[in-house]
Amino acid sequence: MGTGRVAAVASDQGASLSAGGYSVGRLLISEDDLQARIRALGEEITSDYAGRAPLLVGVLKGAFMFMSDLSRAIDLPVEFDFMAVSSYGNSTRSSGVVRIVKDLDIDLADRDVIIVEDIIDSGLTLSYLRRNLLARNPASLEVCALLVRENHRVDEAILRYEGFRVPSDFLVGYGLDVNERFRNLPDIRVVTAVPVEVATDGGAV
Ligand code: IMP
Ligand code: MG
Repeated sequence: MGTGRVAAVASDQGASLSAGGYSVGRLLISEDDLQARIRALGEEITSDYAGRAPLLVGVLKGAFMFMSDLSRAIDLPVEFDFMAVSSYGNSTRSSGVVRIVKDLDIDLADRDVIIVEDIIDSGLTLSYLRRNLLARNPASLEVCALLVRENHRVDEAILRYEGFRVPSDFLVGYGLDVNERFRNLPDIRVVTAVPVEVATDGGAV
């Protein structure tokens, strides 16, 4: 499994993006690099699941854009479901306390399930979700994460597909937000200024 490399950043055209006290700057992953890596992940899943109809479980809200592009890169009869979880604590850091805000509609029994996540930071959200979904007796359960922090120890038995390794900076774009903003950027950028008075209660992940 190849992991995408984050290329050295040549341009800095995002410096003017700001909203709600946050300023978004340095381009980390371009739209072209995102789309190329997602096509490769889709091809890998297509060959790994040949003859099966995997159920993609997207974790709202952050994964919605990745799930949309990934699913179109998979040449199989996929099905979709979504879960929303909320983690308590500071809006730019996971506390590990996770609550299900919206549960799945589809029964997981005997299904080949792929959890689709935007970013694995501490890994706490993912470990909670895996435990929760494994208890529903799927035929198989794998994880496809677009972004994974560089310092995260990868357990290949848990994290089967990953898009890019990223540094510890707070990132926005392509589904990722800070206080609900910037999800619609077509690329991934670094938040350069985070005010100290960030939200202290359950921001949706
Ligand atoms: P974890 O439980 O620490 O792995 O956090 C995972 C969740 O936190 C992700 O699904 C994201 O929604 C959110 N998150 C972590 N890092 C970032 C970031 O840099 N930008 C936006 N959201 C993030
Ligand atoms: Mg979020």
